[in-house]
Amino acid sequence: MDRLNLVTPTLEYKDAAIDYINEFIKYNSDINGVGGLNRYLDDYEGWLVKIEEDKNRIPTEEKVPALTYFLVRESDNRIVGMINIRLALNEKLRKGSGHIGYSIRPTERRKGYNKINLYLGLKVCLEHGIKEVIMDCDKSNIASAKTMLAFGAHLDREDYIDSDGDLVQHYTIDTEKAINDSKDIYESDNKVKKVKQ
Ligand SMILES: CC(C)(COP(=O)(O)OP(=O)(O)OC[C@H]1O[C@@H](n2cnc3c(N)ncnc32)[C@H](O)[C@@H]1OP(=O)(O)O)[C@@H](O)C(=O)NCCC(=O)NCCS
Repeated sequence: MDRLNLVTPTLEYKDAAIDYINEFIKYNSDINGVGGLNRYLDDYEGWLVKIEEDKNRIPTEEKVPALTYFLVRESDNRIVGMINIRLALNEKLRKGSGHIGYSIRPTERRKGYNKINLYLGLKVCLEHGIKEVIMDCDKSNIASAKTMLAFGAHLDREDYIDSDGDLVQHYTIDTEKAINDSKDIYESDNKVKKVKQ
């Protein structure tokens, strides 16, 4: 199994980051958990400033503090995924989207990478005192639902039809339990290393 790390975005990843987003566009895939990078393809440096500012935002109904990471494969330094972790929730996020958004690039899917992505993200949540992680996904997004269920996610409710006309499922994950229960799977043979800040 490949070893993956969460890495804080830097200038060094500029071309790789733009290539990551362009791959989603090429494959006409939904883009999630990228901290708005898709809106900054012409201004990567501006995006770095934005995500730095995101870290310490005072929570309001418009913005909350958030961390954005690349999920990087150690063997070839390729960005295979991204994750965006909201450290506080406002009313809107509590109703939908929750603490975590994530994605794996189309050419690297179905390798178990998103489960590692979420495992590492849950560790970040715990480091920030988030004991219960709230997440949601479209009911049709089997891959995302299965990722959450792999960490003991509890389906709390299904409610509104979103703009895509899909039913939305709302889950909660007991952060500490999820990490303890899956530690052996994700850390036993050094698949993952400590998150780089
Ligand atoms: C959702 C997403 C992150 C999954 O990434 P991934 O790396 O392919 O997921 P994994 O390989 O870790 O698989 C997780 C689980 O989903 C299953 N799965 C993955 N793709 C699947 C598919 N297309 N159909 C059915 N099951 C699928 C896997 O078999 C695995 O289940 P298992 O634990 O029973 O083995 C990826 O498809 C993606 O980036 N989609 C676009 C963005 C998005 O939808 N983000 C989530 C918004 S809520």
